[in-house]
Amino acid sequence: MCEIKKPKGKLGILIPGLGAVATTFIAGVMNVRKGLAKPIGSLTQMGTIRLGKRTENRSPSIKEFVPLAELDDLVFGGWDIFEDTVYEASLNAGVLSHEHLDPIRSELNAIRPMKAVFDKNYVKKLDGPNVKSGANKMELAELLREDMRCFKSDNDLDRLVLIWCASTEIFMKKSGVHETIESFEQGMRDNSPDISPSMVYAYAALMENVPFMNGAPNLTVDIPALAQLSIDRNVPIGGKDFKTGQTLMKTILAPGFKARLIGLNGWFSTNILGNRDGEVLDDPESFKTKEESKLGALEYILQPKLYPDLYKDLYHKVRINYYPPRGDNKEGWDNIDIFGWLGYPMQIKIDFLCRDSILAAPIVLDLALFTDLAHRSGMRGTQEWLSFYFKSPMCAPEIYPEHDLFIQLMKLKNTLRHLRGETLITHLGLEYYD
Ligand SMILES: NC(=O)c1ccc[n+]([C@@H]2O[C@H](COP(=O)([O-])OP(=O)(O)OC[C@H]3O[C@@H](n4cnc5c(N)ncnc54)[C@H](O)[C@@H]3O)[C@@H](O)[C@H]2O)c1
Repeated sequence: MCEIKKPKGKLGILIPGLGAVATTFIAGVMNVRKGLAKPIGSLTQMGTIRLGKRTENRSPSIKEFVPLAELDDLVFGGWDIFEDTVYEASLNAGVLSHEHLDPIRSELNAIRPMKAVFDKNYVKKLDGPNVKSGANKMELAELLREDMRCFKSDNDLDRLVLIWCASTEIFMKKSGVHETIESFEQGMRDNSPDISPSMVYAYAALMENVPFMNGAPNLTVDIPALAQLSIDRNVPIGGKDFKTGQTLMKTILAPGFKARLIGLNGWFSTNILGNRDGEVLDDPESFKTKEESKLGALEYILQPKLYPDLYKDLYHKVRINYYPPRGDNKEGWDNIDIFGWLGYPMQIKIDFLCRDSILAAPIVLDLALFTDLAHRSGMRGTQEWLSFYFKSPMCAPEIYPEHDLFIQLMKLKNTLRHLRGETLITHLGLEYYD
């Protein structure tokens, strides 16, 4: 059993990007705390975990099994390029109705975004007034570190976690600046264009010993320099890109096709969405970051090299279309061309009328609580056991990421069992031989 420090005192959840996802998460937790709604979709709040043999009938709730921070002990804060309070930003986002915003209006209005580290070169479609200035990126990181320290002391917090919920940055590749902590810090002082604002937040968080999770597909902490920093400072990191909507469906269905050896010729996915995220993704450079993140899942799940007869010719295409009338209520269509026995073709059509931020909010909560648990348990570096929540899971350089939702869930629950010294469940059915 691992030594897990108790979650004493309050946990601060700091969020760069107080937009649709972040405000839906914060307002949602406040509603749940008041008993006005249920935390549907959250494993930490509603999930159970089977322990031991099936005959033992031991299935405690996850929050009883591992020592997680209580919802009443969470305190929220963040940064945004707009000055709107979380209440005003929630109204703009248009996700939650007055039924869920009015009872917590004053609590939401009390959360004002701190000035952001922002550069329009990395998010071409946005610009806003609430932005820090500094001589170089290192100085900006110092200002963010000061924000974190003040937030912690002003709110009398015991611990912090940071979850990136800001806009998707342009597509970037790893470069020399990202290789070592020294080259990265030099790049910060030299204002290297290879260091994006999200990397400045991540660096600042790690230097303050604050775990960092990345909800967008940006490169951010997925570079050797910051991975090393997280190990050196004993801080958990993770990402990338919350797994909601269409990719969630893909990682539910594709493992099923593969399990039954059903072939796939093509998978065409298209979306219409009209929120600010959709507007940002209308820029080809931000879309490229998202596209790469969305395309990876099928390739890894289907393993065409191992199953060439079934998957080597798969044509996979993903489109996102900005369509303002829909707001946050995205519509995602999938046309899936499959084939079965003797190669006979069949088709599956999915029309998912989803609500992006409603699917993302419980992920933010679970990531915050599990990451804090990981930190208190002495875990550091990339938290692969949290791949369950990501479209494009980060992993060690020598292995490939696990995308199959069911394997990801098994890994997550086995990690919890391991933390508490329980037998891992392998589904080998060994109980029959006892
Ligand atoms: N909603 C989902 O289902 C989902 C799923 C996966 C990933 N994501 C990602 O989560 C992020 C948030 O999505 P959203 O729908 O809330 O978008 P949003 O546009 O409503 O919110 C993003 C906010 O980030 C702010 N911002 C941009 N750059 C910033 C910076 N450098 N510092 C501080 N604030 C900054 C913007 O002003 C905006 O308010 C996006 O990157 C999106 O791609 C969302």
